[in-house]
Amino acid sequence: MKRIFSGVQPTGNLHLGNYLGAIKNFVALQDDYDCIYCVVDMHAITVWQDPKELKAHTREVTAAYLAAGVDPKRCIIFNQSQVAEHAELAWIFNCVARLGWLNRMTQFKEKAGKHRENASVGLYAYPNLMAADILAYKATHVPVGEDQKQHLELTRDVAQKFNNDFGVELFPVPEPLIFGAATRVMSLRDGARKMSKSEPSNMSRINMTDTADDIAKKIRKATSDPELLPGAEVLDAAGALPEEARKARPEAHNLLGIYAALSDKPLRDVLEEFAGSQFSHFKAVLTDLAVAALGPMGHEMERLTADPASVDAVLRDGAERARAIAQPILAEVHDAVGFLRA
Ligand code: TRP
Repeated sequence: MKRIFSGVQPTGNLHLGNYLGAIKNFVALQDDYDCIYCVVDMHAITVWQDPKELKAHTREVTAAYLAAGVDPKRCIIFNQSQVAEHAELAWIFNCVARLGWLNRMTQFKEKAGKHRENASVGLYAYPNLMAADILAYKATHVPVGEDQKQHLELTRDVAQKFNNDFGVELFPVPEPLIFGAATRVMSLRDGARKMSKSEPSNMSRINMTDTADDIAKKIRKATSDPELLPGAEVLDAAGALPEEARKARPEAHNLLGIYAALSDKPLRDVLEEFAGSQFSHFKAVLTDLAVAALGPMGHEMERLTADPASVDAVLRDGAERARAIAQPILAEVHDAVGFLRA
C-alpha cells in the first residue's frame, strides 16, 4: 500500500504559495494514495508562537485543507500535538541521527542566522521530528517542495540507520514526490523573492482568505517589466524553463507560472497562449482565473472559521485514526530498541 504523509505549519497567513506548493497537490493525491495530512503545531513552536494565535492558526490550516477539497473521510487530517507518538519517536530518532547530519541542514543555518546560540534546541532537532512524523505511519511517499528535500533525505538516512543498527526492516525508505516548477510562487512585488507570510507588504502575496477585490488589486499592482510577454521559445528542449530565462524576467515568469498552476495547464500552453501579449491583458485574464479558483475557497474558509466546533471535530476524529496506526508501529519500535514493556 502506498501511504502519503505531509504537513503544513500553523504559522498564520496562508497564501498562494502554500496553496499551489502544497495544499492543491494534497487534493490531487487523495485519489491514488492513503493520505495523512497533518497540521504540524509542534514544528511551529520551534520558533516563538503566541499561544492564542497558535490555536487559531491550527484551525486556519485545517480549514484550508477542507476548503481546498481534502476529504476528511478518505484522508486523515489532524494536528500533530494530539498524537503523542510523534514526540516519542522523535526522541528515539534524536538518538539515531548524528550531530554531523543536522549540522549540514541549510534551513537551520538560514533560520538561526547569526544568532545560532540563541536558537531553540527544537529548531535544531526539527528534522528528526519530521522524520518521526513520516515514519510513525511507515509512509512511503512524501510530497515535498524544494525547501524540504534535504529534510526528506535526512528522514531516509534515519530510516536506514535505524533498520541497520537494530537489524530490522521496520521502516520503509520514503520517496519524495516533487511537483512542477510552477509551484515556486514568488512575491508579487519582487520576483526574486519567495512569496512569504513574513514579508511586511501585504501586497506582495495573495492570501487564501483574500476577497475578489483584494485579489484583483494585488494582481493589477503586481510588478511587471516593460516587454511584451515571452513565448514558448524560452523553454529548453525538455520543455522546462531554464533558470537564466526565469532570472531574466522573474516577474513575468512568476505570473505565468501562477497561471499555469491555477489552470492546470502545461507552461508551454500558457506561453503559447500569451506570447506577445501586454501585461495588462494577461493580468486581467489571470485575475478572472485567480478569483474563480480562490474566491470560493476563501468563502469556505470564512464559513469554517465561524464554526470552530466542526473544524475541531475533524481534528479529533483524525487524531484518533492517526493514533490507531501509529501505536502498533511504536510498539514495534520499542521492541526493536529493547524498551521493556512489563
Ligand atoms: N517541515 C515542513 C515545512 O515546513 C512541514 C512538515 C513537518 C512536513 N513534517 C512533515 C512535510 C512531514 C512533509 C512531511 O514545510
